[in-house]
Amino acid sequence: MTSLFRAAYKPVLIFVALLFLLAGCMQQASQQEEFQLPISINEAMASLINHSADPIWVAAWKNPRSDEDWRELEHLARQLQVGGALITIPGTGPVDTMWTGRAEWIEYAEELSAAAGRAVNAARSRDVELIARAGDEIVEVCESCHIDFKPDLPTMNIYGELSPLPSDK
Ligand code: HEC
Repeated sequence: MTSLFRAAYKPVLIFVALLFLLAGCMQQASQQEEFQLPISINEAMASLINHSADPIWVAAWKNPRSDEDWRELEHLARQLQVGGALITIPGTGPVDTMWTGRAEWIEYAEELSAAAGRAVNAARSRDVELIARAGDEIVEVCESCHIDFKPDLPTMNIYGELSPLPSDK
């Protein structure tokens, strides 16, 4: 009797479990659709990504010494790490959704976060050599993504800042 009962109810149980799973997926998908950054990706790029990355990749020339210098680099590397994750979410820019919908975009963003994570570790261990290496990796990701995605004319010209050069120190 019990085995008959089990045989009859097993498919029902599986069906109910699948319904729950589906409902969970649908809820997650609609949450993702609704979620939007309050600024454009271009603004996030200039104010967060660029701003936090510059001091990291110039760190090797500037040779950070004090605890304060290293702590600052660690904070900036953390900002870049989370910044990489943030640019996978579309913001208010005209083509943000098109960018974030591309698999290559997400890969570049994840690589950026990963390289920034290595910069965090380098800053924590106060290692100029390692932070220089992480800085090179970061610049490589920025450049690769810009070659693939950056329009010739910025979609919103906001700060127009130039990146620092070794001669600026
Ligand atoms: C996932 C792709 C991607 C990555 C990674 C990326 N960028 Fe960008 N970046 C873009 C795109 C696309 C634009 C153009 C945005 C626009 O015009 O709306 C842009 C714009 C910018 C701008 C603003 C330029 C302007 O005048 O509008 C700066 C500055 C910038 N990026 C710096 C960086 C730096 C520094 C890094 C690495 C630390 C980086 N970006 C990493 C895609 C990327």
